[in-house]
Amino acid sequence: MLDEKVVKLLNQQVNKELYSAYLYLDFSNFYYDQGLDGFGNWYKVQAQEERDHAMLMIQYLQNNGERAVLEAIDKPSVPTDSAKAVLAEGLKHERYVTSLIHDLYDAAHSVKDFRTMQFLDWFVKEQGEEENNADSLVKKFELFGDDPKSLYMLDNELGARAYTPPSLTL
Ligand code: FEO
Repeated sequence: MLDEKVVKLLNQQVNKELYSAYLYLDFSNFYYDQGLDGFGNWYKVQAQEERDHAMLMIQYLQNNGERAVLEAIDKPSVPTDSAKAVLAEGLKHERYVTSLIHDLYDAAHSVKDFRTMQFLDWFVKEQGEEENNADSLVKKFELFGDDPKSLYMLDNELGARAYTPPSLTL
């Protein structure tokens, strides 16, 4: 049986991951609208990954005899002033999600819930990668975003990102 607080935080994380998917889907919409289809593709794939994260949390709750409780998802808040501002928001959001995963890990650790800690290990690593990716996008845009030819090539590069299912299976 899982600890009550751990269950509450896992449920909360389902909502946060679905919000992340919603947010990145709107990032994607923003970039397609700007004609930056590669950026649009990159964030569409990211939205799919975030949905997967929520599904893994739900599956984990189910595997432990808990019913996931789905709450309302907030309207995404996307900065529309510039393509660069959206990327910066993405990095800020990933850092926030990392802090939530760490809080969850901390709650599991405090009640010696080793099973949940082991489950969360994948998310800790994943967040490291996602922060890195978001940071790299910001840096690349700072380097190449002001030059149309370079931006075109960067957009092409991001257009090649393809969805792959998560490496974690439960
Ligand atoms: Fe699932 Fe990027 O947080």
